[in-house]
This record gives sequence, structure tokens and C-alpha cells, in this order.
Amino acid sequence: MAETRIGILGAAGRMGRMLIREVAEREGVHLAAAADMAGHACIGEDAGSLAGLAPLGVAVTEANAAFFEASDVAIDFTLPGATEAHAKLAAETKTPLVLGTTGLAAAQEQAVAAAAARVAIVQAPNMSLAVNLLFALARRAAGALDAAYDVAVSEIHHHHKLDAPSGTALALRDAAVAGGRTEEEIAMASIRAGDVVGEHTIFFAGAGERLELTHKATSREVFARGAVHAARWAAGQPPGLYAMADVLGLD
Ligand SMILES: NC(=O)c1ccc[n+]([C@@H]2O[C@H](COP(=O)([O-])OP(=O)(O)OC[C@H]3O[C@@H](n4cnc5c(N)ncnc54)[C@H](O)[C@@H]3O)[C@@H](O)[C@H]2O)c1
Repeated sequence: MAETRIGILGAAGRMGRMLIREVAEREGVHLAAAADMAGHACIGEDAGSLAGLAPLGVAVTEANAAFFEASDVAIDFTLPGATEAHAKLAAETKTPLVLGTTGLAAAQEQAVAAAAARVAIVQAPNMSLAVNLLFALARRAAGALDAAYDVAVSEIHHHHKLDAPSGTALALRDAAVAGGRTEEEIAMASIRAGDVVGEHTIFFAGAGERLELTHKATSREVFARGAVHAARWAAGQPPGLYAMADVLGLD
């Protein structure tokens, strides 16, 4: 089977560099293109060198039509404004897209949904397998425990993270809502500190007992691995807005 040609958007970022390493090391995929913001110091640099590897022969460019045309599928871990523009370019060039960027405003989410009518887009606030299982468990717990149990979501991330609550914390709240609770009754707490990769807990606290479901990410590798898995899946899909649950075949 032919290798899937992958383009990385946000190549110089924490996730972008991790993704370049993941694509370089994984069988069945190869790095076709890498892009970052116009004017960024990394433009023109070799993507392999940028990620601390031997040169890969792929120079970092701006995210233009040529970037998308060189890729069977693109992976975006950038900023919400950039993601909106990338979704439009993906639709115009019919290049499937995996979106990991979080913190999108409602209008930006709508732009992504409009692009997904023309091309396959996998959008997931968290690409880890275990976190996506956690969403299913949270929905189940919310359905089984009645209003006598208070529901709360807490999260901790490194101090560079821009959005709060995290996209994953919001998705955990959505999972509890899908289980029958209301958004208003679910308390949210966010901490930004140090170099924490990402920790999330959903609490169900009643009189005399408390259930806590916790996920701790110790390496960004889990997100990069999940994103590359999603990219290979997305490359063969018809237009539509997909979640990680679709990629993983979870309920
Ligand atoms: N879905 C997940 O599993 C997951 C996991 C980790 C992080 N994230 C999200 O991914 C995003 C990026 O996180 P990070 O820690 O890598 O951030 P980062 O700040 O380290 O990197 C972002 C990169 O995007 C680049 N960029 C900005 N505008 C651009 C544009 N127009 N075109 C191309 N590149 C552009 C920046 O220059 C930078 O190199 C955040 O929204 C974060 O919350 C998601």
C-alpha cells in the first residue's frame, strides 16, 4: 500500500515538532510538507533539523495551497484563527484535515463545519486513545448517577497553554451532558502551572462517597500518535466532520 503523505501545520510548535518526529519514525507515512506562520524564523529551515532529527529534505513553508496540494492529509496544531484559514484551504484543495487546535470561537467552529461539508475533517480536542475512552466512561457514569451526585471537571496544564478550560475539559462536560446532566450544574476548574502535559478529572460526588475518573498524560507523544492514526484514517473518508470516536470505533 502506498505511504500516506502527511503535511504538518504549526511545524515549529511543541506539538508540530513532536508530529514531525512521529511521522518520520512511523511506517506507512512520510512527511510531505511542513508549514508555520508567515514570517516565522523557521521558514526555509529543514523540518527534520527543526525537530531535532537528521535533515528530511522538506523545507518549512507558509501554509499555502502548494502545502495542501503536496499532502494527502494535513494535521493542524496551531492557533484558532489559523485553523479557520487552514480549514478553508483544505476544502478548496480537497485535502482531508486533522484538527487538534483547541479554543475555537463559535464562528471559527462554524467555518470548520462548513469546510467539512466539502472534505473529511477529524476534529478532536484530545487525540489520546485513553482520553476518548474516558469520555465514554464519563457519559456512562453521568447516566447512572442521579442529581444527588454533584458533577465537576478539573484540569491542569503547562503555563504556556492559552485556552482555559481546556478543549478536553469542555468535551468531558459535554460527555456528562450527553449522559443526562445539564451544563449549568457542572463546575469547571482550571490550573495553569509548570510543565504539566495535561491532567483531567471528572468528579461525581454524593453524600458519603465520591467517584473520580482521572487521565494523566505524561508525554505529548500520545497526542502525536493519535493524530497520525487519525490522519491515515481521514485520508480515505468522504466529506464530513468526524470525531476521534469515529476513528477509534468507540461508541
Ligand atoms: N488535540 C490534542 O490532542 C492536543 C494536544 C496538545 C495540544 N493541543 C492544542 O494544539 C494547539 C497547539 O499547541 P502547542 O502546544 O503545539 O502550541 P505552540 O504554541 O507550541 O505551537 C503552535 C505553532 O503554530 C504556529 N502557527 C501560528 N499561526 C500559524 C499559521 N497561520 N500557520 C501555520 N502555523 C501557525 C506557531 O508559530 C507555532 O509554531 C493548541 O490549541 C493546543 O491546545 C491539542
